[in-house]
Amino acid sequence: MSHDVNLYDPDVQENWYPTYQQLRDHQPVYKVPGANLFVISRYDDVLYVLRHQDLFPTGSSFVRSDAARAIYDERGWERMNPLSVNPPDHRLYRSLVDGFFNGEGLTPATPFIESTISSLIDDFAKDGSVEFIDRFATPLPLAIITHLLGFPAEDMEQLKAWSSAWVLPFSGPLTDDQEVWVAENVVEFQHYIADQAAAKRRDPSDDVLSALVHARFDGTRPLSEHEIITITDHLYIGGNETTTFALASALWVLLRTPGLLTEIRDDRTKVAPFIEEALRLESPTQGLFRVASRDVELHGVTIPKGAAVHIRYAAANRDERMFDDPERVLLDRENILRHMAFSLGAHSCPGSGLSRLEQSMALNALIDRLDDLRLSDRNDYTHQPGFVLRALGELHISFTPE
Ligand code: HEM
Repeated sequence: MSHDVNLYDPDVQENWYPTYQQLRDHQPVYKVPGANLFVISRYDDVLYVLRHQDLFPTGSSFVRSDAARAIYDERGWERMNPLSVNPPDHRLYRSLVDGFFNGEGLTPATPFIESTISSLIDDFAKDGSVEFIDRFATPLPLAIITHLLGFPAEDMEQLKAWSSAWVLPFSGPLTDDQEVWVAENVVEFQHYIADQAAAKRRDPSDDVLSALVHARFDGTRPLSEHEIITITDHLYIGGNETTTFALASALWVLLRTPGLLTEIRDDRTKVAPFIEEALRLESPTQGLFRVASRDVELHGVTIPKGAAVHIRYAAANRDERMFDDPERVLLDRENILRHMAFSLGAHSCPGSGLSRLEQSMALNALIDRLDDLRLSDRNDYTHQPGFVLRALGELHISFTPE
């Protein structure tokens, strides 16, 4: 049975979940009308795509406009992501950065994260209310990734502007003018990274960019300027945009679910599972793209060689074939870590450890410092329009002034 679905309809994007249910139940391999694009929505099928990198490799750049492409070619560097290439190089690139954002690699960052959280809360704790995204969820990950990569803190405002332009293509198809505007911004950002990298070459410090300019790919050659720029811009964007959305959604889920704040405040071991459930329910990256390397048949649908395949992590995360009672926050869920908010397998997010740490330190500090934390009635809980990313527009919260 075929159902009409418009994935670019703002109402569908505002509340994806009934559409995901419809896709999972009736069109688990859904061809977007008028496009060579197939959307995969069941958990097992997304996993199948992720596990078969030979059939579904990562694709190339999505710049369509000739004018935009000329800006990259003539004044900047091609938009690519060495961290997302296919095997065998993928592992070699990932090994250069993974250690900074997971496990013990995060220990040196912890005092900086703690002091940044504390000073952001200081700025509004006496006010009794705050718009959380602007005053906390945006500046926190931005300050942290700026610090870890080794960019000057005073450049943060400009860096955020470039970062917002960089992610615009994820909102959906852009007009040519928009693509040109994005290209102008991204190329400025690329030159900024090139200048910063040159400075780190002369005067290295204890940061990721200094490590990249001195790294050896496969233990043999230095990274090219193009590789350094495109690895760094992906880390910068990955490091701030999605964690902002995750922090805001997590607080929204926490405060909208009766009894949950008290339960977590009284038992802080529940912060970690709560963060996983919030990521599962309101995944900041709703889905990403692969390409079919040859004709592949799935659920009776032939995905032709060369077609774009969109794996919808957020639809998989609410698949009742995988998660019991998927719409509910269940802190003792058996398979709580099997969600796909950070993807799974070879391409799973290298920043997941950093993001989890930021979220858990932030939630603990907010719960410690702000009494009677609650949602304000000023909220309409609408999201920024977007095909790939899920981001609340605003989140007003109230609390007892400190
Ligand atoms: C809540 C926060 C985050 C979410 C939801 C998220 C989500 C994801 C997802 C779903 C992927 C998989 C891409 C794919 O399937 O092709 C990914 C990859 C990636 N993420 Fe994140 N991410 C987050 C935070 C971060 C942070 C903090 C960083 C940087 C420190 C980062 C950097 C990257 C990079 C560079 C990749 C590409 C990895 C590869 O293809 O091997 N992300 N992220």
